[in-house]
Amino acid sequence: MDVLWMIVLTVGLLGSHCEGAISCKNENGFDVDWFILYKNKSGFDYVYIDSTNQNLKKNNKLVNNQAGVLANTLNPYFEKNKQSPHFGFIAYNDQTPSCNALKEYGHSKGVVMMDEDNVVWLLHSTPKFPAGDESNNFYPDTGEKYAQIFMCVTLKSAQSAQIAQHLKDINAYIFKEHNRGKLKDSSTAPQPLPYHENLKSAGGSQFKRFVKQVSKERDPKEGDLYVTIANTLQSNLYIQTWRSEPKDPKKRPLSETEKKKLVTITSVKTAAGEWKHGCDHSKWCVSDSENWMCVGDSNREPSQFERPGGALCINNPSVAEAFRQIINSSVPDADSVSATECDPGPPKRPRVDSTG
Ligand SMILES: *[C@@H]1O[C@H](CO)[C@@H](O)[C@H](O)[C@H]1NC(C)=O
Repeated sequence: MDVLWMIVLTVGLLGSHCEGAISCKNENGFDVDWFILYKNKSGFDYVYIDSTNQNLKKNNKLVNNQAGVLANTLNPYFEKNKQSPHFGFIAYNDQTPSCNALKEYGHSKGVVMMDEDNVVWLLHSTPKFPAGDESNNFYPDTGEKYAQIFMCVTLKSAQSAQIAQHLKDINAYIFKEHNRGKLKDSSTAPQPLPYHENLKSAGGSQFKRFVKQVSKERDPKEGDLYVTIANTLQSNLYIQTWRSEPKDPKKRPLSETEKKKLVTITSVKTAAGEWKHGCDHSKWCVSDSENWMCVGDSNREPSQFERPGGALCINNPSVAEAFRQIINSSVPDADSVSATECDPGPPKRPRVDSTG
């Protein structure tokens, strides 16, 4: 083999490596099976944990960095014209950069990417995300304020139909798409709600997805996503959601189901800052004793009991323990929590949007 041929071969191999299957990525651009990112209440710092390093650590790059975790993961979309014709992308969000979705759509936010090999599913809590279609504008300016959470999982494309079913069942409000039909959809029958289904990541980790029930009467026993999760996992939950202060006692979130307790987190303390739940737009929960941690679509307020939505849960002892560890304070009863509490003292902000 002559030298020139070896160079051609080497360059070719390197090139093909760069075009590997889509995946969740870390801040160095390497593939990870999954990650969870939890942003500070103001600014762009966050704590981060992934399949390769199971400690919830402070980041190096900011959340909106052009070569950070989120930009690296979304890069195939930014460069969609260079991708194979099998690449597809879907972004859904009840709060798009230009409008809010009607209430029959899921109070749900996420991105799904697919290619011949994999499906990448990124659930999150950030309004207007992704804002632009490039590495320098995908993170919305409005996303600086309040804490936000992202959970990414890399799945084999064999799970494509499950994700398609999920988006249908939460009635996702899709506002950006590219080759949407590449998300293989074999299902036609709507499923009775609520339901849950196991998902295995490409790397073999155990996940579970939930689709919540819709309660037209805004009954918390039916319409609260976290009641379904607690009853299904048979576990007490610590729950963080956007602030809520329902006036009508019958519509308030429950502090327990038949057997399980639903504890409200009132502040967290992480390596990237500490904040009260009034400054936290993330939606997540963690089991008190099992290895489940979930990122949810829904808040625990009456207006959301009548909206569709879902959750993605990971079964991982390090993740569950890390999220239990950052709970700084909690109360057994969601009623006793003041919805307006954020920073100590002024300025008192107007409520951004009653549907959070
Ligand atoms: C988190 O945000 C608070 C409030 O802006 C700030 O004081 C703190 O320095 C931030 N923490 C980190 C690690 O960025």
